[in-house]
Amino acid sequence: MDTFKDLKRNYSIGIFDSGIGGLTVANAIFKRFPNEKIIYFGDTAHLPYGDKSADSIRFYSLKISKFLLEQNCKMIVIACNSASSAAYDTLLEFFDGKALFVNVVDPLVHSVSYQGFSKVGVIATKATVRSGIYKQKLRTINPDLEVVQLATPLFAPMIEEGFHKNNLSKAVIENYLSHESLKDIDALLLACTHYPLIKESIDQFFDGKIKIFDSTDVVAEVVEKKLAENNLLAETNNGSHAFYVSEYTDSFEATTKVFCNRELELIEKPIWQ
Ligand code: DGL
Repeated sequence: MDTFKDLKRNYSIGIFDSGIGGLTVANAIFKRFPNEKIIYFGDTAHLPYGDKSADSIRFYSLKISKFLLEQNCKMIVIACNSASSAAYDTLLEFFDGKALFVNVVDPLVHSVSYQGFSKVGVIATKATVRSGIYKQKLRTINPDLEVVQLATPLFAPMIEEGFHKNNLSKAVIENYLSHESLKDIDALLLACTHYPLIKESIDQFFDGKIKIFDSTDVVAEVVEKKLAENNLLAETNNGSHAFYVSEYTDSFEATTKVFCNRELELIEKPIWQ
């Protein structure tokens, strides 16, 4: 197929997640590319993705990507680890040549792989842990690396409800992170895009003694590389961002305003009906 020939520089960057987690990635992209227009889709009707089957996550991801392509997106960033692990290959195959796709797993894996660590922890949703994608990709690059994965399924709904820095979030963080398997890790990967919102508390839990990685700036770097390689970086301002949710929630609107730092329009778009 004549790859990407129909895409234009003034098209948008589509970003999706189950909820507000992908805004951590969107924020890194807003900062790096002031000219790009972002179209964000938060599938709040189906949150949390981490508890769903890989088939369901693939189904949601296909439908959301189709919607984003109808809004003229030149690139789709799968700003969700659960969807990146379950649906990236399917989306590449299904929308072959119709848009550039970026997942959040590969940039994170590359950012930690060459740093000489001997034991790294991966915290993520149940879906991401079940996929085993981090362990497999990290060990392919460095077979001697010890990788421990821990599902932390309460984090995403807790963050989505706005519990970031209070007694409840502190108790949940302590409970999960004191798990025996995370003893003696040199680094921790926040393998869910919601988790950068509690990064500070996680760092405090470890007394700043280990390195903590997330998929924000590293994903924005890959976005830049792929757009530049395909001559698709915006040359002039492509217009205001748009935020869609499949079900309206107050906390989504509040968090979006904090990240976006400007007036924004939140549109409820129940694409499932
Ligand atoms: N932010 C998502 C991830 O990176 C999904 C959280 C969820 O919906 O379970 O996996």
